[in-house]
Amino acid sequence: MRVARYHEFGAPDVIEVEEIEPLEPRSDEVRVSVEAAGVNPCDALRRQGLWDDELPLISGSDFAGVVEAVGDSGGEYAVGDEVFGTVPRLNVSGSRGDRQGVYAERATVRTDRLTSLPESVPFAEAAAAGIVSGTAWRALQELGELPPRGTALIHGGSGGVGHVAVQLAAAMGANVFATASPANREIVREFGADRVFDYRREDLESAIEQAAPDGIDLLLDHMFETHCQLDINVAAKDGDVLVIGNNYDQPQITDLTTAIGKDVTIQPFDTLNLDPIDDTLAQISRLMAAGDITIEIARKYTLAEAAEAHRAVSEDSFVGKLVIVP
Ligand SMILES: NC(=O)c1ccc[n+]([C@@H]2O[C@H](COP(=O)([O-])OP(=O)(O)OC[C@H]3O[C@@H](n4cnc5c(N)ncnc54)[C@H](OP(=O)(O)O)[C@@H]3O)[C@@H](O)[C@H]2O)c1
Repeated sequence: MRVARYHEFGAPDVIEVEEIEPLEPRSDEVRVSVEAAGVNPCDALRRQGLWDDELPLISGSDFAGVVEAVGDSGGEYAVGDEVFGTVPRLNVSGSRGDRQGVYAERATVRTDRLTSLPESVPFAEAAAAGIVSGTAWRALQELGELPPRGTALIHGGSGGVGHVAVQLAAAMGANVFATASPANREIVREFGADRVFDYRREDLESAIEQAAPDGIDLLLDHMFETHCQLDINVAAKDGDVLVIGNNYDQPQITDLTTAIGKDVTIQPFDTLNLDPIDDTLAQISRLMAAGDITIEIARKYTLAEAAEAHRAVSEDSFVGKLVIVP
């Protein structure tokens, strides 16, 4: 089978398309014929050596496809089943790690990394759903507390995580605020945001305060190094600030007293720690089947274009997600 993998860390061009033998599924695994693989910023960070993974490494965590072989205890899955999922713990040593990435014609993955694909959802959308939807779900449903008709602020509402979080918050009945660039204002409103603020405006904080005088109940921030003090200042009493993103610059909180005074919770988290992830994926599957969440696909790439997809996910501005169709 053809795979996109690298033997050394570095720039996107370390990725090569190679021919290797597919792995036979172990008892708790299935082998999936990959119809599409989602591209995430963390795929590019891994390639740069951020997690010091064992090499060579097949890139990619998010996938959708058709089951073509089942291990002894493949559980509920049978050959021919359409599934999607994510393998977040690539080359993590020990029994909880994932054996293979998914930028490949086939991927052998544990059954607790996937769920059934709803009939109405295209492979490409489901392939792009895993990490971003899991992140939005964890922030809004598990870690943060959004009171009935509460207000949520999603930073980067046009991005991979952001566009799902906006839709999920809207489906939960929240008053949804988002930040985005002006070019993406309308589409973020279509995702379900009631108010969209240009993240570059100098009076961003006072604009948000005016729009929500009682404060924001739940904030999801992928650029905490930029927004940390704003988040604290606009948070409601008992507000939750959920922090993701790879903050290379350390956040500089200049006034923690305001956070203390409002009992604000600041909660960093990593979806890669969701293990197992099948229950969360089943919730996402239900929301996609109901049409409450759709994944916007900005561009598709071939396996041979995986390096270009890595460059784009790190450098380009686009709405939604990039996918590889092997
Ligand atoms: N901890 C976790 O579990 C977890 C999970 C998933 C992702 N992440 C991380 O979260 C970050 C976002 O991931 P993603 O997949 O959503 O990335 P993405 O698809 O590249 O989206 C990034 C978004 O940020 C927007 N943006 C740029 N500058 C901004 C600013 N100053 N304020 C607000 N928004 C701004 C971009 O808008 P424009 O294009 O219009 O500039 C874009 O919509 C990445 O660092 C990723 O590694 C972490």
